[in-house]
Amino acid sequence: MRPLRPPTEFLDQHLDVFQAALYELPEGCFKIESGPPEPVDMNLFCIQDIVDNLVESKKRLRAVPQEMFGRARQRCNPYELVGSSIFMNRASVKLASIDSQLALTATKEDPGSPINDQAGDAGVDDPVIIAKDTFRFADLCSGPGGFSEYLLWRKHTWGERARGWAMTLRGELDFQLDRFHKDAAVQEALKVFYGQDATGNILKQENIDAFVEMLERETAGLGVGLVSADGGVSVDGDEAVQETLLQRLILCQILTMFMVLQKGGDFVVKIFDIFTPVTAGLVWILSRHFEKICVMKPLTSRPMNSERYVVCRHLLERRPARVIEHLKQVNARYQDIDDRAASKNPDTKDTPDTMKSSGDTAIKKEDVNHIVDLKVLTEDSHFMEYIKRNNMKTAIRQTEALDVFLNDQETLSARMADPSSTATPPSTTAPAATATWRTSTASSSISTSSTSPR
Ligand SMILES: C[S@@+](CC[C@H](N)C(=O)[O-])C[C@H]1O[C@@H](n2cnc3c(N)ncnc32)[C@H](O)[C@@H]1O
Repeated sequence: MRPLRPPTEFLDQHLDVFQAALYELPEGCFKIESGPPEPVDMNLFCIQDIVDNLVESKKRLRAVPQEMFGRARQRCNPYELVGSSIFMNRASVKLASIDSQLALTATKEDPGSPINDQAGDAGVDDPVIIAKDTFRFADLCSGPGGFSEYLLWRKHTWGERARGWAMTLRGELDFQLDRFHKDAAVQEALKVFYGQDATGNILKQENIDAFVEMLERETAGLGVGLVSADGGVSVDGDEAVQETLLQRLILCQILTMFMVLQKGGDFVVKIFDIFTPVTAGLVWILSRHFEKICVMKPLTSRPMNSERYVVCRHLLERRPARVIEHLKQVNARYQDIDDRAASKNPDTKDTPDTMKSSGDTAIKKEDVNHIVDLKVLTEDSHFMEYIKRNNMKTAIRQTEALDVFLNDQETLSARMADPSSTATPPSTTAPAATATWRTSTASSSISTSSTSPR
């Protein structure tokens, strides 16, 4: 049976929700500035001392041997034991956590759409016959597929219709449909697409355009009610460059979303720190195109890392032309920078920027430094206050989690080196927290009985 959802006012009180004071885009707000990477003023979107403490703890983390991570991680993250629940990976559970708080899987009906009233039982490759109540979603940078697995499982176990379209890089992290929970009933309900050049690389404009064209055709121009975007690459422990390394990827996911999301639809995108004007500019752009946004960290997301999600509720305008054009131009600038760098260093020519190691990025000579006029951003005091507060809260929590992890890890190392040592690791809060998780997700009927991947 489908559970009742908490009213929005209730959610707004418990989450840090932001609603723009006005949605109109100020004249001349969009600009593109590139050049040598600009030094980041940490007092602009956070507080220097808070960031210094975080950086200090991250430095200590780098000295921790990899084999010590598992156990100490469990101790500093009470929700670690939730694991992947009944799903293929922890990503599914993160989306379940966001869904339980923000009702992402409510089917969005666009009242103005000419949608067919017929039941939709055609395969995804067939000409579209989609029922009014079919939940349509796009899942970007989505391999191996935990988000899609959760969305299909959620809707199908409610006895509702769902259709998904996904794009992700081929290779190691490609979709693994055989690992989907059987109740997700993925057959015919999900189409994985790899763009015009068949790589699935969303940084390429031609791949974005091909995905949009396919999706528009297969939904008869309706678009989708939800876009999820979880792009990320390994930063090899060098989180300092994570934010700038992933900016283009986040931008391309946002661009794709603006091209496929229906009016009134929702969007969830993973971001990391918001310390630079480019990331802050992207969040600002989102805040001006959706009724509300919420930068949040799901309960099961590891508190030691910078990962956060921007959940955007109710797109105000279908295919907003001005922002789409601007984001395309920014992406073209990134491509231009990459092409010039590749012509100087042919060894990196075929490596998507997001796939380069952090070492490559650290020596980047040129980058995009601004996508929104900094004056416009900083004069939006309501927005600035929200981002600063969110950054401060996240950084302080992250530093605390790192310190718990590091202290615990040091105690464990001491005991291993000298079993007679009296040092006792702090007691874990995991069982109590797992119980909380069970209660908080009960309304979504998520079983946490199995914590190991299937
Ligand atoms: C954290 S994983 C996503 C996990 C996924 N949401 C799930 O539920 O299983 C990040 C994904 O981003 C993809 N990715 C990274 N760079 C990409 C790019 N340029 N184009 C498309 N996908 C990309 C990776 O291949 C990987 O599949």
